[in-house]
Amino acid sequence: MRNEDSKLLESTKLELIKSVRHISDFEGIVREALENKGGELWVELQRTLFHLNNKLMTKGYSLGVGGASEEWKIRDVIEKVEKDILVSYVSPAELTDAEEFVSWLKIKISEHRVNSHPLFSYFDNDDISKEEMRYFLSNYRVNMQRFHLHVAAYSLVVPFEMREELYENLHDEFGEGDFTKAHPNLFEPLMDHFGGALEEDWNPETFNLLNTKMNLCWFADGLAFGLGGMGALELSIPAQQKRILANLRRRGLSEKLVEFFVVHCELDEAHGDGWFAAGIPYLKSVEDFNDTYTGAMRMLEARAGVYDGIMAGIESNRKELEEINASISAVDSELNTAN
Ligand SMILES: [Fe+2]
Repeated sequence: MRNEDSKLLESTKLELIKSVRHISDFEGIVREALENKGGELWVELQRTLFHLNNKLMTKGYSLGVGGASEEWKIRDVIEKVEKDILVSYVSPAELTDAEEFVSWLKIKISEHRVNSHPLFSYFDNDDISKEEMRYFLSNYRVNMQRFHLHVAAYSLVVPFEMREELYENLHDEFGEGDFTKAHPNLFEPLMDHFGGALEEDWNPETFNLLNTKMNLCWFADGLAFGLGGMGALELSIPAQQKRILANLRRRGLSEKLVEFFVVHCELDEAHGDGWFAAGIPYLKSVEDFNDTYTGAMRMLEARAGVYDGIMAGIESNRKELEEINASISAVDSELNTAN
């Protein structure tokens, strides 16, 4: 370990010990973080939860080997506060039939701001540089690579009959029997074409989407939250991806390079419909409807947040570049005057 790394570790340990003094304030701190989306505390909270989630997905639950109960406690507090401050989504009282509710929910999904996010105008107007596309894809990839894990984890808590739809979805995710066409494998050549992914690209909003998927699909009780969240995500994907695909094609990229987006424009609407159709028999009460609605809106808001984060990143980079160019021109004109 380098000297400065070990110094950093020591000071981190000290900070950690000092923070224990305020452990009883943890719920209050989480509340402050979640009530100030985008603030410093919110950013750190998303990063920390992402770290715990990533550890869970790569190493397991740590049960019986220390640390597990603390992690559950942290998750429990965060989710409790998150639920406390969540806007309550209530479906119209006249909807008592599950099929009618799902038809109504699909309209709500299509009206969500994620579908008309201003980031897509950049793609429509060919106003996105190669580096900006790399940055977009790098953030996209964080969630794309792990999508199948949420389907798999969610499948553990749904009825046997419903798993048929989920495992068909997983079969598609894994290239319908051709592993070279598994979706994460299709994505890599495109990512490499634009220069590859860097960890420093990843925004807290990107982590928030992953954390939201984990909470809805791995940790929520019952099937309603995951059904709403994942169904909504799948239904709304093609409209967004069509605009990305059109941009990639206008850049002259080969059909092989853009295959990831072609496949998703074709598949995901059917996946979304399939998820909801498979879930309808288990939506039996108004409470189930409200939970499904809540899951859908919470997921779409987190997805829209990813686009907010990317757009803010693009805008701040452009501003920085403008300032650099302005100071270069100022120096140039000073030199010209001096000459
Ligand atoms: Fe996929």
